[in-house]
Amino acid sequence: MQNQINEIIENRRSIYPKEYTGDQVEQVVLDTLLRNANFAPNHKSNYPWRFMVIGGSNLEAWVNKAAEIYQAETKEEAFNQAKYDKIKHYAQQVSHAIAIVMERDPDVKSIEREDLCAVAAGVQNMYLSLSQYEHVGGYWSTGLGSYSKAMSDFLKLNENQTLLGFFILGVDEKKRTEGHKKDYMKFVSYL
Ligand SMILES: Cc1cc2nc3c(=O)[nH]c(=O)nc-3n(C[C@H](O)[C@H](O)[C@H](O)COP(=O)(O)O)c2cc1C
Repeated sequence: MQNQINEIIENRRSIYPKEYTGDQVEQVVLDTLLRNANFAPNHKSNYPWRFMVIGGSNLEAWVNKAAEIYQAETKEEAFNQAKYDKIKHYAQQVSHAIAIVMERDPDVKSIEREDLCAVAAGVQNMYLSLSQYEHVGGYWSTGLGSYSKAMSDFLKLNENQTLLGFFILGVDEKKRTEGHKKDYMKFVSYL
């Protein structure tokens, strides 16, 4: 078990839409990811995450919205047609996008940074859960209009909800696990 968990953590990778076949991720995979996310630690058991699954006929509408936001919110001189086309092409590559939403409880004095941390822990559980599926990849995107009011409106978020990005999912031929990571001791000190 000890070796298994270390290996799962070490081999976790972000797998991007260019690596997806366009096939659909099965419902059982979605259920596993969403269930495991819900086991993340959260202070005062306030469950600050809300996950909104975008798939099927909604996926194209979401891709179009992300592309529209990119065009509308990018200065003309910075607009990159290839980037716009890349986003549009996600409709043929991505299976599902899971909107990662933090919901604050206005009646409870919860601390925003704690809620943010808890949601991120939930997303890590989704990342790690992918290790059991040889042909399903995913990554956390904070692009695709994540910080735009237009995207929050598209998702019909209320004033207590903040969009923290999307967990993008797709089927891939063979999951990549290699990666170049810096030595952990660079970021550790003992006081
Ligand atoms: C909060 C957060 C936001 C991210 N946003 C993006 C993004 O917008 N676009 C992207 O390509 N990758 C995004 N990533 C994925 C990182 O680029 C990726 O984790 C990093 O390159 C390391 O690769 P690995 O996940 O395979 O170890 C995000 C990751 C995190 C944690």
